[in-house]
Amino acid sequence: MKKVYLDNNATTMVSPAAAKEMERFNTIHYGNPSSLHNFGLDTRPELRKALDRIYRLVNAADADDVLITSGATEANNHVIKSVFRAAAERSRSGRKDHYITTNIEHPTVYNTFQYLEKLGAAVDYLPCDRHGLLYPEQIQAALRENTVLVSVMAANNEIGTILPVKEIAALCRERGVLVHTDATQAAGKIPVDARDWGVDYLSFSAHKFHGPKGVGGLYVRQGRRLEPLFHGGEQMANLRAGTLNVPGIIGMGAAAQEALDFLDYEATEVKRLRDKLEDFILQHIPAAFLNGDRQNRTPNTLNIAFQDCEGEALLWDLNEHGIAASTGSACASEELESSRILRALGIDKALSHMAVRFSLSRFTTEEEIDYVISVLPGIIRRLREISSGR
Ligand SMILES: Cc1ncc(COP(=O)(O)O)c(C=O)c1O
Repeated sequence: MKKVYLDNNATTMVSPAAAKEMERFNTIHYGNPSSLHNFGLDTRPELRKALDRIYRLVNAADADDVLITSGATEANNHVIKSVFRAAAERSRSGRKDHYITTNIEHPTVYNTFQYLEKLGAAVDYLPCDRHGLLYPEQIQAALRENTVLVSVMAANNEIGTILPVKEIAALCRERGVLVHTDATQAAGKIPVDARDWGVDYLSFSAHKFHGPKGVGGLYVRQGRRLEPLFHGGEQMANLRAGTLNVPGIIGMGAAAQEALDFLDYEATEVKRLRDKLEDFILQHIPAAFLNGDRQNRTPNTLNIAFQDCEGEALLWDLNEHGIAASTGSACASEELESSRILRALGIDKALSHMAVRFSLSRFTTEEEIDYVISVLPGIIRRLREISSGR
């Protein structure tokens, strides 16, 4: 049976070059870079090279910090809770500090803000429009005297919509408000430029751009405060104690370099294949509806709802044909929850249960897309017949 992996927004395959580099490194080096003997010291040049590549991925300046984390979950939690703690310390008088985010953030941001609300923060979750777009004027209107942080994702994980982070950061800078962006779904798919965007903090995760799992980063603009996540050793400038995940950093560095090399390919070839699948579906399968914005979108993401075709059942049938895709749904106890993101866009609950996400990568081939195109109409027809009781 064919195997077609179209779930790259969930996780990507580790690129052969990154895997090879990690393996080579692991067989030679096991010293701790913090040690003062050659076993440790010998790891440092390679570590430096990998960090340089990671800095280039997000265009950090030498003077900025990039904390190596266990992924974007940690980076998002760390920065939001750190800003909250620092603000709470400043405003012991009981003033409620104010935060702005969107209603389509990943749970690692959204749920963190919900947690802060319980601790007394005031949070605005700005609504995106039907296509998942947010407008800088919405931020302008929401900013208050006591706003301390605006957190807006660079690209959405379910629908791929790209948000205007640079414009938002410019507005916030004028008002002295800190800006964080979760760029996890942007890094490796579209150019990410922390300096040009003017953000204070930016999160990313290696396994979304063909690096290893369990490693990522948090960009921190020079001079911006961050509370330590872990206390202990002096690693990561005292902000994240613990022995460094050196092989992870080496793998992420190699993947970052390749991701930069392939950005044009993402914008042309990956997009062409995504559009081929999308055009086929919209032209040949009746009652299929695109979710997200057609233009303003990462080049690899396609989220589509098939009327009268339950998303989970479709995933199952696709899987039977060797095709891996996903829905935004999650099985919550007995009840099947539909995607919070799609509901936030105003898509009705029933239709949001029928949405499926196909996410491609630079390893997706034309032959794979042709295969999906050859089996999808039959799968949809069969599921619709079942749902109509025929
Ligand atoms: C937009 C976004 N932010 C954060 C995360 C969390 O990343 P990780 O699981 O690597 O910590 C993900 C992962 O799906 C994501 O898509």
